[in-house]
Amino acid sequence: MEEFPLKETPFQPGHPVNPENFKGRMDIIQNIIRYMPNVISGNAQHFFITGKRGMGKTSLANYVKQLVQKKFKMVGVHVTNDSLQDIESLISHVIEQLLNEIESETWSKKIFRKFKDNIKSVGAFGANIELKENKEEFIKSVKNNFPQFLSEMVKDFEDKKGIFIIIDDINGLTKSPDFATWYKSFSDTLDVNFGGESPVAIMLSGYPDKLQALYNHNPSFNRIFRSYNLGPLTRAEVSSFFEDTFEKVSIKTEKEALDKMINFSTGIPTMMQEIGEGVFWEDSDNIIDENDALKGIFEAGMQIGKKFIRPEIDSSIYSPKYRSILLKMGEHAIISFKKSNFEKYLNDEEKKVFPDFLKKAKQLKILEQERARSGEYKFPNMLYPVYLAILSIKNDKL
Ligand SMILES: Nc1ncnc2c1ncn2[C@@H]1O[C@H](COP(=O)(O)OP(=O)(O)OP(=O)(O)O)[C@@H](O)[C@H]1O
Ligand SMILES: [Mg+2]
Repeated sequence: MEEFPLKETPFQPGHPVNPENFKGRMDIIQNIIRYMPNVISGNAQHFFITGKRGMGKTSLANYVKQLVQKKFKMVGVHVTNDSLQDIESLISHVIEQLLNEIESETWSKKIFRKFKDNIKSVGAFGANIELKENKEEFIKSVKNNFPQFLSEMVKDFEDKKGIFIIIDDINGLTKSPDFATWYKSFSDTLDVNFGGESPVAIMLSGYPDKLQALYNHNPSFNRIFRSYNLGPLTRAEVSSFFEDTFEKVSIKTEKEALDKMINFSTGIPTMMQEIGEGVFWEDSDNIIDENDALKGIFEAGMQIGKKFIRPEIDSSIYSPKYRSILLKMGEHAIISFKKSNFEKYLNDEEKKVFPDFLKKAKQLKILEQERARSGEYKFPNMLYPVYLAILSIKNDKL
């Protein structure tokens, strides 16, 4: 029978990272955490995390949740749902999550008694608590009195000192002004009517343009929040991520290999996890050398392509006609360019289709223009240029 290698990967591409493997972002975390004493003494605080896709919003939220649970004895509620389109379903998710979160606490019985008319199942071992189907009236009243609802609820929390609610992926709620308006009034009422008795922290997360959209709906929206944008991790943070994560499974990394993995990660957590994973499975002797690294990086590029890029670069732009232009962008490690400067890399054939290529790429949001008709283009997400760079080295190095 064939031998199967039985080893367990310590990497987590596609999943929020375990708090033990979480790297960097300490300035943001400290900045958030320093307001927890205010929260605990009853003054609500609001945070907004922005970041492009895969930059680590959910991972950060999860890390902060664990931290406030452990260090500040707060109840943490994490609602993740990109498809939330209205405030009612948001409220209903928050309540369900909250009830499930406190279910094992001895004092939760008091709270469940208050909810008994509105929930389906209580206390059945390991049961998932859900609200009843015909809950519209109840949700509507919570929506209209959310500050009161929260401040009443925490009074029953006995040994817990407050509540930390994370609403991850606010993206779907930003289209209409409803959410921004509702939130503004929620936050004002918390301060004005429940100041000193609302140990409540709320953290929202979304793409950077979504915060802007909410601001456009209601210019006061931004003033409520302390907002933080997740940029790339530093070289040192990426380096320590690779070293520490490989060390957990007793694997050493040679310097050249480590440098390659860091370079191709370009500080993007998603890329870093995919590269770690790719390299981990290439290694067979518990020492990562340059060759393992390059093969793993290539594999990571393919995964990123499959998961994030190919679905967007639809066949029209990945067609043979344009493929060589994309590869040239990878070869020259282009992140942003001026049309007239980049044309020098193109042959006559490519030059002819270049304007069409740019138009398509813009439509598909693979490239963006800072100012319309400026002739300057850039990739909106670093995953694109990294993927193209990996594709272009494939033939040279492997
Ligand atoms: N600080 C970190 N340290 C290590 N790995 C991280 C870190 N942040 C994120 N990751 C990893 O990066 C990937 C993307 O993370 P995550 O899902 O948290 O991003 P996101 O911004 O919430 O993405 P999306 O926009 O798709 O919701 C995951 O594989 C995760 O494990
Ligand atoms: Mg997320």
